[in-house]
Amino acid sequence: MIDKSLIALPGVRRVFPILGLLAVFQALCISGQALFLSAVLTGLWEHKTFTEVLPQAAGFAVCFLTREGVNFLRQKLLDGFSYKLASEMRENLLTKMFQLGPVALQELGTGTAASTVITGIDEVEMYIKLVLSKVLNMMVIPVLLLIVIAFLDWRSAIVLLIAFPFAIIFMILLGYAAQSRAERQYKSFQLLSNHFLDSLRGISTLKYFGKSKDYANSIYLTSERFRKATMNTLRVAMLSTFALDFFATLSVATVALFLGLRLMDGHILLSPALAALILAPEYFLPLREFANDYHATLNGKNALASVNQLLAMDEHSSSELTEVIHWSKNSTLNLSELTKTYESGRGVSDVNFELSGFKKIALVGASGAGKTTLLSMLSGFLSPDSGQITLNEQKLSGLTDENWRRSLSFIPQSTYIFSGSLRENVAFYEKSATDAEILEAMRLAGLADLNLSLDERIGAGGRVLSGGQKQRVALARAFLAKDRSILCLDEPTAHLDIETELEIKENILPLFEDKLVILATHRLHWLPQMDQIILLNEGQVVGIGPHEELYRENNYYKQLLEEMS
Ligand SMILES: Nc1ncnc2c1ncn2[C@@H]1O[C@H](COP(=O)(O)OP(=O)(O)O)[C@@H](O)[C@H]1O
Ligand SMILES: [Mg+2]
Repeated sequence: MIDKSLIALPGVRRVFPILGLLAVFQALCISGQALFLSAVLTGLWEHKTFTEVLPQAAGFAVCFLTREGVNFLRQKLLDGFSYKLASEMRENLLTKMFQLGPVALQELGTGTAASTVITGIDEVEMYIKLVLSKVLNMMVIPVLLLIVIAFLDWRSAIVLLIAFPFAIIFMILLGYAAQSRAERQYKSFQLLSNHFLDSLRGISTLKYFGKSKDYANSIYLTSERFRKATMNTLRVAMLSTFALDFFATLSVATVALFLGLRLMDGHILLSPALAALILAPEYFLPLREFANDYHATLNGKNALASVNQLLAMDEHSSSELTEVIHWSKNSTLNLSELTKTYESGRGVSDVNFELSGFKKIALVGASGAGKTTLLSMLSGFLSPDSGQITLNEQKLSGLTDENWRRSLSFIPQSTYIFSGSLRENVAFYEKSATDAEILEAMRLAGLADLNLSLDERIGAGGRVLSGGQKQRVALARAFLAKDRSILCLDEPTAHLDIETELEIKENILPLFEDKLVILATHRLHWLPQMDQIILLNEGQVVGIGPHEELYRENNYYKQLLEEMS
């Protein structure tokens, strides 16, 4: 009925008693309201004047207003609570995404990851709010109202008691049907977003090969499937709401019928009969409210499951390092026989080399040579299958260590901008940075002429940045993280046009000073600036040395440069 992962969220257990108390209080108000109302009506029926029933009328008004007040209070409480919870979740998710790194996110499908973060959390927030407010009402209010009704007229209480389990069974049966449909709907939503994003990315290639028409058709089919799944879910949801309402109405009618018959026979007084009749629909109300929102929140439930799945993903964090590394000119990192093979059989194998001091290293090779794989192992996003890493005399089995990741800045091929303020996006690695520091980092990264305030929302739902601007945000992140003296870059300018690329390069070069730099690239213009080139071909290191030396002595290097130029 209420899923475990919801209860497991931090703080949910704490708000339960408060919500429970509010529900008890609300049940008292509802009972008071019914008793006073029936007293007023009975009084008027017995030809009392309005002034004579005024105290009861006032009692009714007080109960009515208090009930609404309690509702308002609960809403306020839950708004704040779920907002806070959702913000924390968003933050955890982003931290996780950065920890997992680009490799794992690629496996997950970028569309899925993005749609989980952006739309998912809003749905989770809604889900928390609706479910928490309804569930306790449903568990508390009917029980208390039933007790009150039993005191007024035990026969009606028995009718209502018998009806309740039936209503619940009805709800559960239809709930299950709707749930499996909602899950299918969510899956096809993920499929749609992945598919759409992939096609969009490749649209120029598709056009080039004259395939864009085929893809338009396939996007149409996928979205059509999504529409059908949505309508299916809605149909079951409508049906079950209708069934439940019908059932509740039928039960109330039964109570009314018996009360009426006994009133005519004079077996019951008007006042308790009236009060019981007013309370009967209130008895079913929490259940109906829950059922209505239950269907509306199934998406939130699925989104919460995806969020949890992402949060639970193994980031392969080892903990061999006891502290963050401050790479200095005497530091060394030695790789020996480092191997990583993917399921496809590709990857990199038997990598041997040593990095030391503030050298600038380029990983060079054709597409698919293994640059990203090697760089991901070096920057701690991917663990090697075998091999030995020695960091300043300390032997390590891999670098997927939180302390290592904190020692370096990583600039990927395309930067993920999350939906948030410019300040949050830039200060991602350095949350304690002051505005002055952030602005300085932005100036160094060439973001100053963007003329945006730090509070401006960017990313989904905010201002959309161009590819070059996104890369500048990544640069500003790196400039801000001054203490991190290792810099890893994976083709940081590969998807930009040549002017933007050269402009961004101008901004990147100052970052290289007094750092260990590892740059994966297949662009020639970087090479003269680097101290050492590591040449990769089909997962093997086939040459190491300075640019000029390799150019003189390595035929493959010469051939590759000629192909690339
Ligand atoms: N997650 C993966 N699963 C299976 N094969 C992969 C994966 N990532 C990369 N590969 C393969 O490993 C090889 C090296 O890839 P990569 O390191 O991305 O090369 P580069 O960055 O030099 O283009 C390629 O043949 C690629 O197809
Ligand atoms: Mg690559």
